[in-house]
Amino acid sequence: DMPNEDFNFGPGSLGSQTLMQRRNAMAKIPTSRVDRLLSSMGYGSRKDMARMAKAGGITLDGDDLTDVTMRIPVTPDLPTRMEVDGEPLDPVAGMVILLNKPLGVTCSHKEEGGLVYDLLPKRWKLRDPALSTVGRLDKQTSGLLLLTDDGDLLHRVISPKRHVTKTYRAKLARPLDGTEGSLFASGELMLEGEEKPLAPARLEVVSPTEALLSVTEGRYHQVRRMFAATGNHVEDLHRERQGGLSLPDDLAPGQWKLLSAAEIASIFA
Ligand code: URA
Repeated sequence: DMPNEDFNFGPGSLGSQTLMQRRNAMAKIPTSRVDRLLSSMGYGSRKDMARMAKAGGITLDGDDLTDVTMRIPVTPDLPTRMEVDGEPLDPVAGMVILLNKPLGVTCSHKEEGGLVYDLLPKRWKLRDPALSTVGRLDKQTSGLLLLTDDGDLLHRVISPKRHVTKTYRAKLARPLDGTEGSLFASGELMLEGEEKPLAPARLEVVSPTEALLSVTEGRYHQVRRMFAATGNHVEDLHRERQGGLSLPDDLAPGQWKLLSAAEIASIFA
């Protein structure tokens, strides 16, 4: 390094930055030391990373990367360029996962029993920033569940102002009586113990004991309590859709996929 890198060279000067570093800084592309990056992705301690690199376990653009103190731009294409232990690098921060949540697992970091995080690679529990579920599904609800380490995105998806609709398929204990659709659409349904009526929701009847219900809020046990308010009981609840994003037919319960930028954008479409 140049000895005078703390010098202010004035506007327009490159100072001691390389052109590449300058361009990345202007495009707000974060850079990171390789050891810090891999550590934050759960691969091990920084010492572990130095050891791994020494043993030839880290490559960048096909070449062994030996100096883990090197700073690199953290771009989304890094998994196509870096390998760790012979495998493509995990997704960098800013990831969104779509999981087909199976019944019986909990949307929590700490509860006893099976957690949704147990369905993802083990290392991902150690990531910083951490992965969180975008809202929650009950233990006994299945279907589309997003997980992300992007706090801004998470808040945009769950913010009631954005009206990102969630569609649930509910199987009911008793036949619908025909009054549910207008009640749910009224914007006047008050759930037990609450002080603010529910925003209008849309019901689509599939059969006497099955319906699709689209809601924009995420109140506690909302769908189950909506049908309970009509004297019915939800026996089976599955989320099929969130915004413009549907659960793919070929994604079996317990399976997940990484979303592309276009798929993430489609949530808000
Ligand atoms: N409504 C519910 O009652 N449960 C869920 O898991 C989601 C919406």
